[in-house]
Amino acid sequence: MIFTEKKIGTIAVKNRVVMPPMCMYSSDESGMVKPFHVVHYGTRAQGGVGLIILEATAVVPEGRISNADLGIWSDSHIEGLKSIVDIVHHFGAKIAIQLGHAGRKTGTGKGFSSSSIAFNEKYPEPFEMTRAQIEDVTQAFKKAAERAQKAGFDLIEIHGAHGYLINQFLSPLVNKRSDTYGCNPRYNLSFLTAIIKAIKEVYVGPVALRISGDEYEPQGLHAEDHVEIIKSLNADPQTQVNLLDVSSGGVTAAVPEIAFVAGYQVPFAAIIRKQVDIPVITGGLITTPTEIETILEKKEADFVWLGRELLRNPYWVLKTAEVLNVDCVLPRQYKRAEPYSS
Ligand SMILES: Cc1cc2nc3c(=O)[nH]c(=O)nc-3n(C[C@H](O)[C@H](O)[C@H](O)COP(=O)(O)O)c2cc1C
Repeated sequence: MIFTEKKIGTIAVKNRVVMPPMCMYSSDESGMVKPFHVVHYGTRAQGGVGLIILEATAVVPEGRISNADLGIWSDSHIEGLKSIVDIVHHFGAKIAIQLGHAGRKTGTGKGFSSSSIAFNEKYPEPFEMTRAQIEDVTQAFKKAAERAQKAGFDLIEIHGAHGYLINQFLSPLVNKRSDTYGCNPRYNLSFLTAIIKAIKEVYVGPVALRISGDEYEPQGLHAEDHVEIIKSLNADPQTQVNLLDVSSGGVTAAVPEIAFVAGYQVPFAAIIRKQVDIPVITGGLITTPTEIETILEKKEADFVWLGRELLRNPYWVLKTAEVLNVDCVLPRQYKRAEPYSS
């Protein structure tokens, strides 16, 4: 099943292997794409990955995780991002951009958040966002989506996971507001729905949402909460998402033992996938084709990401095709290296 095509909204992905978003901290204060990024993403596309999700890309400079993150807060970013899109398309893969805002987890200074509570003692206490600031950030996501369209991205992924700004509104562990943006009682969807609506006003293409399927705290959000959240989003065409990317944690510093076990996030994805009717991606320490086949056969997810494994082995998909004796096209220039060719 790894090598079967699957549609996400209007786009067709040639196989089920996804490169998840991974910050490479390889830009500078400008947030511009560098030659490293083009080679890095181009190599994974050349290596046969079906869908690449570009690393968290900041919609405003103060939303960066570090001062070496990629940015999409200005029109000047479009050209560099398009060069990544073009090389990935050249090798037949699809590409999403992960739009993000770090909120209180920014490494660039004092951040803002749903409430003025610091992530931990290493971060400054953030400002509690005013309604005007919430509206400004929503508009920044919209402008970023317009730029993503111009750069040619096949999908937009909204970063709603890992305790970054959107997650800081969703989660009762962080969001202690008493206004309409507060949790009532488990989560608040106002900020997220405003962002999805704004993106969909300008972006033509599928929209994905990455969530922390389990926040690893008893009072935090769990898979069943996300079933409710997705059903609620998808009941309205203006807030409907086409793909759910199930990750976990990052809202607090809690890292449970299971986070060191292959497939640790699959159980959360499986609970959600059974109850929603959009494709689901998940993964976590996956390295072998057998693990992926099992997840797909058990219908626990529709796509599987290989994060750190693709950092080690960019040609994982081509190698797997060879091992499984599946017809998978080597780049034309490498034909002479096909097994049994001369
Ligand atoms: C170097 C690195 C950077 C990451 N950056 C991001 C990111 O930008 N956005 C995000 O949602 N997750 C990020 N993650 C999490 C990965 O997308 C993925 O969920 C995680 O690595 C687990 O998958 P794996 O075990 O296959 O590596 C990052 C992970 C790594 C290792």
